[in-house]
Amino acid sequence: MIDIDLVLAIAHHVAVFSVFGLLIAEVVLLRPGLTADRIKQLGTIDGAYGAMSLLVIIAGVARVIWGAAGWEYYVTNWAFWAKMAAFLLVGLLSLPPTLAVMGWRRKLAAEPGFSPDAGEVARLRRFFAGELVAFAFIPAFAAAMARGYGAL
Ligand code: HEM
Repeated sequence: MIDIDLVLAIAHHVAVFSVFGLLIAEVVLLRPGLTADRIKQLGTIDGAYGAMSLLVIIAGVARVIWGAAGWEYYVTNWAFWAKMAAFLLVGLLSLPPTLAVMGWRRKLAAEPGFSPDAGEVARLRRFFAGELVAFAFIPAFAAAMARGYGAL
């Protein structure tokens, strides 16, 4: 008999660690003096980051619905909602870098030597810094809610 709660927990953890790894890869790659290859690489990694985030949501929602605790456990828990808010914040903060990289790739197609200026790169790095700070709260809220803290 397959333990669906275990399978979903494994999927959730693998997706979560992948998302975090991809976020760190973007932080490392986004530096002044970006070359065409780097911009393309950033675009690929950002796409994977989006796809993996979707998997986190699918596995997370599935855990709420089919997990061992039952959905009532989570919807009545403020630590769960705080975790959702932190996750949403990470998602919102990821939008400006995603849109910028998409724009750079379009510019590259028209102008092969294009490289964004250092000010623009610095501005986008601040969004990544914000994402990292907001991200750190997610496992904290997750651990709390998994242990019954936050019950309303
Ligand atoms: C990047 C985003 C996320 C991270 C880093 C994350 C992290 C975690 C971690 C570390 C746990 C294990 C907690 C523990 O057992 O100590 C967990 C559990 C869980 N997460 Fe997430 N999560 C994320 C997104 C989501 C989303 C979007 C949902 C639902 C919509 C969700 C729903 C759940 C559920 C239901 C559990 C099980 C808690 C329990 O054992 O009772 N997660 N998460």
